[in-house]
Amino acid sequence: MILVTGSAGQIGTELVAELRSRHGPENILAGKHRTPLPDEIASSGPSEIVDVSNPEQLKRTLLNYGITKIFHLSSILSALAESDIQRAHEVNINGVFNVLNTALESNIEQVIIPSSIAAFGTDTPRKSTPNDTIQRPSTVYGISKVFTELMGNYFFTRFGLDVRGLRLPGVISWKTEPTAGTTDYAVAMFYEAIASDKYECYLRPDTPLPMMYMPDAIKSLLDLSDANISNLVHHSDFNVHAMSFTPSELAKAIKKINPKFRITYNIDPLRQSIADSWPASLDDSAARKEWGWKPDFDMDSLVNDMYQNLENKLI
Ligand code: SER
Repeated sequence: MILVTGSAGQIGTELVAELRSRHGPENILAGKHRTPLPDEIASSGPSEIVDVSNPEQLKRTLLNYGITKIFHLSSILSALAESDIQRAHEVNINGVFNVLNTALESNIEQVIIPSSIAAFGTDTPRKSTPNDTIQRPSTVYGISKVFTELMGNYFFTRFGLDVRGLRLPGVISWKTEPTAGTTDYAVAMFYEAIASDKYECYLRPDTPLPMMYMPDAIKSLLDLSDANISNLVHHSDFNVHAMSFTPSELAKAIKKINPKFRITYNIDPLRQSIADSWPASLDDSAARKEWGWKPDFDMDSLVNDMYQNLENKLI
């Protein structure tokens, strides 16, 4: 059985649905903590409260359900982490350690833990950021993701635990909204364009950030999980790239679909400084070479599909 932690989250809800359709609903345990699960996840298969700050409870859950693989998605995202560094430390650092250590003690076969573009900082080359480069992030979220990558690689080299991870960019989706990330403006812009034909953006119009559509994010996690381990040189720290755009480029693309759409800017200094410390684009040749990573969606196909699905959902 596969456990997904963070099943109520933006990525978790869609990963659980995809895993349930691939492996059968009874074989996917939706783990949640504070946020309630959406009805379709709660009613379509087993679920359990999983508190990653409590290794005993975690261990009992792994044993009781016969878990063999974990997708560990619970995480406090960048902007929220800056406003509550204690909680970010508990979930993103202690929680990750507890998951890895408990997985090792419970003979789990594989642990997948996403990292993020936040694992880089202002000393990192910004354009086409190499897979292996300087990582000195300036946010607590970024620091926790560097910890995750290094600890994942450590558990693999030291103990042979099969830990894998990739650095997700801003993920755009219409089913479940993200919570308090820096890249969330991109999702919010679609919601507001449909609801009110206008959006006030908290980032400067010329801020480029890497982005990915949810189906590609799900594909990246599943393809990395399925990859033949003997082909992997990296383990917990793969760059994956799909597209990059700025708020003004996204606004222009949305305007093509909704000509009434207007964007204004009211810069939030905290989120702007976070965005300015992250890559503009990534070199993902290691992921392409080692496990065949290739995204399906470019900016045009993302914008059209996202707008249409969200419009159907909201109207
Ligand atoms: N989407 C995330 C954030 O903005 C990046 O990992 O926090």
